[in-house]
Amino acid sequence: MADLTLALRGTPAAAGWDALRDEPGPDTVRCLGLYSKLTAGVTVVTALDGTGRPTGMTVSALTSLSARPPLVLACLRSGSRTLSALREQGSFAVSLLTAHQKSMAERFADSSVPPARRFTGSHVRQVLGLPVLVDALAWSVCLVEDVQPYGDHHAVVGRVMAVEVNGGRPLVWHDRGFHTLNGPRPTSAED
Ligand SMILES: Cc1cc2nc3c(=O)[nH]c(=O)nc-3n(C[C@H](O)[C@H](O)[C@H](O)COP(=O)(O)O)c2cc1C
Repeated sequence: MADLTLALRGTPAAAGWDALRDEPGPDTVRCLGLYSKLTAGVTVVTALDGTGRPTGMTVSALTSLSARPPLVLACLRSGSRTLSALREQGSFAVSLLTAHQKSMAERFADSSVPPARRFTGSHVRQVLGLPVLVDALAWSVCLVEDVQPYGDHHAVVGRVMAVEVNGGRPLVWHDRGFHTLNGPRPTSAED
């Protein structure tokens, strides 16, 4: 690999050579290895399809983006049914799963399970017309603020319109497996 430190310290722009952009970079497998080391909560993003039927998928790539205004960011695979639905309807919901909801996370990630059947056995409530998972750690209902394609995913920015925060421990995704947090419950800023 080229010595990026040296190249970046020089004046590559003046020479018309951008060391970072010309660097071939690691292959996809290595990048996926990097991503697998990220640790994230597990959520289910839900929406209504064109016929008003609920659809949803498991998403770990969800993060807070802004507090004022309240915005969240989700990264959804291009071609996913949930992405099409939320784009079409302009809204979606996010339910943050608890440590007890591993089977739910698996069901909402199983492409062989039709979208409507993914909700079977889940306690669902309609909030502002969208399905939220009532027993979740927390949930929010969002208006789609922006959707942009990036590589093989789309970045979806949602403006939070409703929120509920419940108790419990989160379900955690790390190293391609589900985990739970051990040890005493940390006190939150609101305690
Ligand atoms: C723990 C976990 C996290 C996931 N995170 C994401 C994610 O952040 N974005 C994404 O597009 N797919 C993610 N997936 C994969 C989708 O849940 C899966 O492809 C799902 O079947 C897509 O729904 P669809 O078949 O209705 O399109 C994740 C799967 C698992 C098990």
